[in-house]
Amino acid sequence: TWTAANIAEALVEGVRAQVGDRRAICGLSGGVDSAVAAAIVQRAIGDQLTCVFVDHGLLRAGEREQVEQDFVAATGARLVTVDAVDTFMAALAGTSDPETKRKAIGREFIRSFEGATAQVLGDAAADGATVDFLVQGTLYPDVVESGGGAGTATIKSHHNVGGLPDDLEFALVEPLRLLFKDEVRAVGRELGLPEAIVGRQPFPGPGLAIRIVGEVTQERLEILRAADLIARTELTAAGLDGEIWQCPVVLLADVRSVGVQGDGRTYGHPIVLRPVSSEDAMTADWTRLPYEVLERISTRITNEVAEVNRVVLDVTSKPPGTIEWE
Ligand code: XMP
Repeated sequence: TWTAANIAEALVEGVRAQVGDRRAICGLSGGVDSAVAAAIVQRAIGDQLTCVFVDHGLLRAGEREQVEQDFVAATGARLVTVDAVDTFMAALAGTSDPETKRKAIGREFIRSFEGATAQVLGDAAADGATVDFLVQGTLYPDVVESGGGAGTATIKSHHNVGGLPDDLEFALVEPLRLLFKDEVRAVGRELGLPEAIVGRQPFPGPGLAIRIVGEVTQERLEILRAADLIARTELTAAGLDGEIWQCPVVLLADVRSVGVQGDGRTYGHPIVLRPVSSEDAMTADWTRLPYEVLERISTRITNEVAEVNRVVLDVTSKPPGTIEWE
């Protein structure tokens, strides 16, 4: 029978067979999938695994700290952090097209992982040691929506599937490739990961870059980060985290509308709230959030985030909308 314990054990065995006595790195995003993939591989090969956290500057408030503290505390895994803010920003400069953004981010992730191998190997590099495997937390829906399933069209290139370069230096280890999110969470709990990690709402690897409709700039990231933190804080305070699958907060950076604040005219950007309920992210419904909570989020964002003068609610299911806007 398929229990979480059986699945976990089979996945650990599979990784052990694939990697043997060689070395692997695992990109951690702070999300559930990469954390569970890392935990499986660590169980399989121990210190032959080093986790790599790429700070690409597209993260939400507090996320880097969460990975550096919570994940390491829970697993004891070896962790290397790569500061890659400038390279990612340069790669995204001038780009507004969603697929171009996604592919640029996928490429820069791989470059960052390649760059991290020297740090991972340390002195062993002099003896010709290499890192042969890259662990990714790719799930079944990521494969399907990136056009990897038989007879399926590309809907969007998930950063860890559609954006990989042809000359990849690593063989991929993807223990979660046949699983859905709820199964991943069950396996994570089985492996002893804390609820703060396995219970987290999904957040896409390309981060805030695909929640800014338009070009990604530092200034726009700061606006979005502030609005996102307010929405998250209020949803949590209202006890709604368990009810929603996730709530992307999106900045329509190329749109402006006229507003009034005090006795002055404003000409600012809209923020979109996209709360969704879902079982596996393949389909979703928009969450009927209480009006009081929506009101509080709207009031706080327009009062506290300069540049934003309007908050709108996305009431589209998936299909026809996707969860993320890009
Ligand atoms: P969509 O927007 O396709 O999203 O309805 C489905 C789920 O996948 C997440 N998502 C991603 N996760 N890398 C990820 O790790 C990606 O490139 C990516 N794109 C979308 C999204 O947040 C939702 O949970």
